[in-house]
Amino acid sequence: MNSINRKKQDLDWGNLGFTYQKTDYRFVASWKDGAWSEGENITGEVMAIHEGSPSLHYAQQCFEGMKAQTTKDGSVLLFRPELNSRRMNETARRLMMPEVPEALFMKGVDEAVRMNYSWIPPYGSGAALYIRPLLIGTGENLGLRPATQYEFRVFVSPVGPYYKGGGLSVIKLAVTNYDRAAPLGTGHVKAGANYAGGLLSTKSAQDLGANEALYLDAAERKYLDEAGSANILLAMKGNRFVTPDSKAILPSVTRRAIMDLAKDELGLQTESRPVELEKELKDIEEMAACGTAAVISPVGKIWFKDQWHSFYGAGEKVGPVMLKLYDMLTQIQKGERDDPYGWTKPVAFD
Ligand SMILES: Cc1ncc(COP(=O)(O)O)c(C=O)c1O
Repeated sequence: MNSINRKKQDLDWGNLGFTYQKTDYRFVASWKDGAWSEGENITGEVMAIHEGSPSLHYAQQCFEGMKAQTTKDGSVLLFRPELNSRRMNETARRLMMPEVPEALFMKGVDEAVRMNYSWIPPYGSGAALYIRPLLIGTGENLGLRPATQYEFRVFVSPVGPYYKGGGLSVIKLAVTNYDRAAPLGTGHVKAGANYAGGLLSTKSAQDLGANEALYLDAAERKYLDEAGSANILLAMKGNRFVTPDSKAILPSVTRRAIMDLAKDELGLQTESRPVELEKELKDIEEMAACGTAAVISPVGKIWFKDQWHSFYGAGEKVGPVMLKLYDMLTQIQKGERDDPYGWTKPVAFD
């Protein structure tokens, strides 16, 4: 077994962006002839795969995104990693890839975090260790059919806030003219192809001065789906806390936790249901985007039907509901608050 470097890297932890930083180890397992290898930690960040690999041509690949956070006493917590494992397997089934057994997924995540101890941002830095598991179809192939070989890899990178401005800064979203995912397509799974199709929407949104695109449902273009890399939360008039329900959105791990907190801790009436944007716009008091990377990013303004619409504080301020939820969620994730739900899971280093 390789020994762990216990000395923290000399990084400006408080000023990290959401960018790739090469760390020392990554965990890799391969699938061939119907079975997974046990997996190993390797140092090389470059993958050599066959030019005929179905992941390259037909996007037979998927990924997950999670974070590890350091607590005050120095332990390192994952947040509901079993849900990422289940979601990766749901994606695998949809894309006709072999499932990654939960034990192998967890081993990969634990090893990638453990072996890169020196890269885990310290407590209080505002940064986290982002964990990127991926599953790709490899091996010689030409026709449109599932791969005969697969690689499961987990790499990590220390990261700061996802959106420019950082932390709890208020963002803007622009409703895009492009569709993200069809109702019976692959929007509910974490297929890389969903994101390639979204790059142009993000660019168009940014050209309008927004941080990211906001998608409407592809069938009717009336109902809210989600943002490019985050689900949507709405604090609405009458103490209602709503998240759009749609067959085409990714079931966010973060959103599921926030809905529980909104109900149990804030006593709000939580609803997961279709939200017709134009009709309900006037009832939205606060909006936020949520996800592993976005955490809870309050949305101050949205571009919709050729104009900006503002929410709480003329679209400049963080509203009280999102602020409370942000505090509760991040405190649980950093071990600063009791975790009655059992959401956090410590990584073992010895
Ligand atoms: C399209 C999309 N929606 C929502 C989310 C949020 O999901 P989670 O909270 O599981 O990170 C993500 C990923 O972060 C995403 O890529």
